[in-house]
Amino acid sequence: MAELIDHPCVQHKLAIIRNEETGHKRFRELATEITKFICYEALKNVPTREVIVQTPVAAATCRKIDTDIVVVPILRAGVGMLEGILELVPTARVGFVGLYRDETTKQPVTYYERFPPQIRGGTCIIIDPMLATGGSTVAAIDLLKENGAENIMVVCIVTCPEGIALVESKHPEVRIYAAAIDDSLNDNKYIVPGLGDAGDRLYGTSN
Ligand code: PRP
Ligand code: URA
Repeated sequence: MAELIDHPCVQHKLAIIRNEETGHKRFRELATEITKFICYEALKNVPTREVIVQTPVAAATCRKIDTDIVVVPILRAGVGMLEGILELVPTARVGFVGLYRDETTKQPVTYYERFPPQIRGGTCIIIDPMLATGGSTVAAIDLLKENGAENIMVVCIVTCPEGIALVESKHPEVRIYAAAIDDSLNDNKYIVPGLGDAGDRLYGTSN
């Protein structure tokens, strides 16, 4: 299931990050800002435990997060979202999945994986700006599950119905959070209108 984060503050920033005239410095800043807002929403149902805190006046009944949060950026573009979620959850642990889409087949190719042990029993959040065909996200979820993860969510900036459908068909319990659910994919399997090649725009590697 996919949840659209339709808040005006997110949509305003999305309008700027989509703009082809936005350069890589501002693109990176916006990726961080948008990620923080989306993750704020995505984390609204994480388990909490009651704690009693002594204020200068009296004892207050409070709640603290009661799960290990493990953030898993998909290399390389997912790293552009890491700072945003770490600003929100500074104690989060970080795992990595290295994947790229083969330019001809559009299928994901895995080249790296490294996870903290807390993926077992913790809450895993896969981050990647683009969920297009969904192949990369499904491969990342497969890897996490093979390594013992059970509680997984996905945070992206832009997705589309085809990608959502693939994730739902393979991993129906995994919730997707996005700032935009766009129309479709083009012949090159890019999201339309999307925002282009997220990795290139983040790191200034486009021509
Ligand atoms: C992009 C993006 C996703 C993937 C999405 O990465 O960051 O990981 O494509 O496409 P999919 O849903 O069709 O699998 P890319 O392969 O361009 O690698 P990069 O992050 O290294 O630029
Ligand atoms: N990867 C991107 O960076 N952008 C897309 O639209 C699809 C895949």
